[in-house]
Amino acid sequence: MVKICCIGAGYVGGPTMAVIAVKCPAIEVVVVDISKPRIDAWNSDKLPIYEPGLDEVVKACRGRNLFFSTDVEKHVAEADIIFVSVNTPTKTRGLGAGKAADLTYWESAARMIADVSKSDKIVVEKSTVPVKTAEAIEKILTHNSKGINYQILSNPEFLAEGTAIEDLFKPDRVLIGGRETPEGRKAVQALKEVYAHWVPEENIITTNLWSAELSKLAANAFLAQRISSVNAMSALCEATGANVSEVSYAIGKDSRIGPKFLNASVGFGGSCFQKDILNLVYICECNGLPEVANYWKQVIKINDYQKSRFVNRVVSSMFNTVSSKKVAVLGFAFKKDTGDTRETPAIDVCKGLLGDKAHVSIYDPEVTEEQIQRDLAMNKFDWDHPMHLQPTSPSAIKQVSVVWDAYEATKGAHAVCILTEWNEFKELDYQKIFDNMQKPAFVFDGRNVVDAEKLREIGFIVYSIGKPLDAWLKDMPAIA
Ligand code: UDX
Ligand code: ADP
Repeated sequence: MVKICCIGAGYVGGPTMAVIAVKCPAIEVVVVDISKPRIDAWNSDKLPIYEPGLDEVVKACRGRNLFFSTDVEKHVAEADIIFVSVNTPTKTRGLGAGKAADLTYWESAARMIADVSKSDKIVVEKSTVPVKTAEAIEKILTHNSKGINYQILSNPEFLAEGTAIEDLFKPDRVLIGGRETPEGRKAVQALKEVYAHWVPEENIITTNLWSAELSKLAANAFLAQRISSVNAMSALCEATGANVSEVSYAIGKDSRIGPKFLNASVGFGGSCFQKDILNLVYICECNGLPEVANYWKQVIKINDYQKSRFVNRVVSSMFNTVSSKKVAVLGFAFKKDTGDTRETPAIDVCKGLLGDKAHVSIYDPEVTEEQIQRDLAMNKFDWDHPMHLQPTSPSAIKQVSVVWDAYEATKGAHAVCILTEWNEFKELDYQKIFDNMQKPAFVFDGRNVVDAEKLREIGFIVYSIGKPLDAWLKDMPAIA
């Protein structure tokens, strides 16, 4: 029986291993993590992450061939294939701070593997890592090898949160990079056989190590670039009276462009896009390619511009001040169907509003008050350094309330900001909301979820990203 161990029971490790276990009953899969609360949650009825379909998959195989444990060393020692899915945050200090990936967690996992291994291992990079990480890991392992053979593979994960289970069941492709040596090819084949249980062979791509590592960064950079492109267009649409949804639809009909990932928004978030682009930028700079680095940097700059443009629009529309006004924020997660708030645009938007002294009342169906308070108190890039969480600042707490209902959040508010595209925000009783708000009542839709015309009929002043502006908003131009 092949034994798989995955180090890191996070958003990537947990769902990926659960799907491998459910699809390969003859393989034993153990997910290990140093965080006891996380492992306890994986072993409980309330899993540590919210992901549609995940509960069913875990229930089907937990205790059968899927296990969650904190006994990291034991399971690593016993495994044939070790996936490493630990966090790779952006460095917050030292060389490359604010750009380079911090490989502390990766390196300590590699050293632990070298310490406890007594048999040959295939070590698989699952978490996104900078190009050439495999080489560094290989060095750590082989210099401490005690005669053991290690093969390093890069097998980046392309799942998106909210659709992780669907993406894992039917991946567009599985990518496996390995060394171009007989042992390397054998290791690639062994991993390929795992995926071949459910993924058609033509969808399993094999490449050299560096191509696989770079492909992951490139895929995320291209996806983020599409969003920044359409968001850049959204600003121009507002200025000219064009409608960004119509523009997206029209250009997406070109089969060379395609219709996906062209929704204008308040900005992209999530744990990958910004981090991976910063990483790419750093690698380009280190390789003497400043022009390439600057090209990709612009994708992040437009994303930051989009968030501050949104805040400016809110403030300028409301007579240039939101001081002491109640602003309801609907949605805090970085996208719908997830409770994840890493790099969510809601953090920057809320901080912007708080900076202008607004009272912010937040409702999100999946994000806890504790998480929101922590996010608003944290510095940029601190979110992925779980060992050094910042305490919540008392001043932020005073201006922020977190409630468990959209109606409660909007009661007595001057404005509503929609920051996540949760389906339920489409179905709210906006007449009831309007009746309970201060007048004039504003809706700033950062995700284009509401029917702006209907809301205008009720009496709202509505701003929708990239859509023709209300006369009111035209009279109060936002200063970008
Ligand atoms: C992304 C990649 O899609 C995935 O392949 C990779 O493995 C990890 O990073 P994820 O961050 O989970 O996945 O979500 P994704 O669906 O890509 O959305 C990222 C952000 O872009 C979200 O904030 C989302 O709201 C935003 N977005 C997405 C838009 O603003 N417009 C769009 O058209 C699509
Ligand atoms: P991702 O989104 O990439 O899955 P997460 O931050 O959700 O990232 O998960 C990474 C997990 O890896 C965390 O639960 C963390 O506790 C765990 N981890 C980090 N370093 C180690 C290590 N050396 N051994 C075991 N687990 C680790």
